Amino acid sequence: MKKVLVIGSGGREHAIVFALSRSPQVGHIYCAPGNAGIAQLAECVAIKDTAVDQLLDFARKKQIDLCVVGPEAALAAGIVDVFRAAEIPVFGHSKAATQIESSKEFAKQLMAKYSVPTAAYRSFADYEEAMQYVRSRSTYPTVLKYDGLAAGKGVVIAQTEPEAEHALKDMLVGEAFGKGKVVIEDYLQGPEFSFMAFVDHHRVYPMPLSQDHKRVFDGDKGPNTGGMGAYTPLPFISPEEEQWALKNILQAVADAMVNEGTPLTGVLYGGLMKTKDGIKVIEFNARFGDPETEVVLPLMETDAYTVFHAIATGEPLDTIHWRKEATVGVVMASCGYPGAYEKGVEITGIDAFDGLILHMGTAIKEGRLLTNGGRVLMCIAHGKDISDAQRKVYTEIKKIHCTNLFYRKDIAHWAL
Ligand code: AMP
Ligand code: GLY
Repeated sequence: MKKVLVIGSGGREHAIVFALSRSPQVGHIYCAPGNAGIAQLAECVAIKDTAVDQLLDFARKKQIDLCVVGPEAALAAGIVDVFRAAEIPVFGHSKAATQIESSKEFAKQLMAKYSVPTAAYRSFADYEEAMQYVRSRSTYPTVLKYDGLAAGKGVVIAQTEPEAEHALKDMLVGEAFGKGKVVIEDYLQGPEFSFMAFVDHHRVYPMPLSQDHKRVFDGDKGPNTGGMGAYTPLPFISPEEEQWALKNILQAVADAMVNEGTPLTGVLYGGLMKTKDGIKVIEFNARFGDPETEVVLPLMETDAYTVFHAIATGEPLDTIHWRKEATVGVVMASCGYPGAYEKGVEITGIDAFDGLILHMGTAIKEGRLLTNGGRVLMCIAHGKDISDAQRKVYTEIKKIHCTNLFYRKDIAHWAL
């Protein structure tokens, strides 16, 4: 029986652990650092996701057969390179390949070189030059992206020149982000969606399309968050458009990365937009999306160990099979999120929920389940179509009680 180490502590990692726990090949799962929900399926180990040397020591000691890496911070810290050098099979991209996410400029240059459709852009390291460019164009909104990992805070859509000036000062002059570059790009319009695929060099295995809900309140109001819910499938992308995006975006980037000497060996996440001029790339991530993974991965019929292990070791796979059920997932978040919030508030009733609950930020103390983050639980239901799954999840979610949790009431509204 195989021993697997999963790195990370969110809902995405709970989804990965849940998928692996259903594999008859898997005997034991460790998760570093994990959370209270993951602890029901895996042995949680108190090692930080970026403590690469400690994680390697642990993997060696336990004779791990496979390591699956969730968060981008661990990938960007080079965990895959270190495990590979130690000849431990690891699912995730090398540090160099992770630049597709960790450097906006790298991603934009790659797309320009290989004609992958995306917004036109320029990049700047100098504040005065950047401001001169913004003034000379004077088209608003304009999109400013910090060139580096910025925990979701690196993109500003400036509506006016003073807003652009303020954001550029923060990114290029102030101390908030550290020294770096800024990509300034055209503002695109249209519905956004997520297209994830398992990628091993030239081999690309697509996952079902999904959509995230970034704003905190119903009707897509309020500040951006890490994602308040997700669903699959998407009625507004036709099978032809999906095939087009697979070939011209995901496969094109997989091939380009091989050509550049930085092949992909994990998940490629395309954050795409359906504009009036066709589907274009908004961003790439080098990992599973969160919360999209929580609605997509439970639909995978193919054995998860087989899939992760094949990508990690470069073995070809047959087609990956997916259940065709509609799935809706609703995030329960701490009141105040994405701003300041309280932790340690008791949650009851989750055992009564008929469906799947994946934990995003929870802890157990003296047998009581407590909130332990901004996004706390993802409540998931399957159905024969989106409205069926939506109805189920909103009926069941009422069984969960906590005085400090709230959720959006309209997840999947774009699909109805
Ligand atoms: P990113 O971190 O690149 O995904 O950007 C965060 C969010 O900013 C995206 O999900 C979009 O909603 C928005 N955004 C980024 N780039 C553009 C663009 N070129 N045009 C319009 N919106 C954008
Ligand atoms: N759901 C967006 C992300 O994972 O970046």
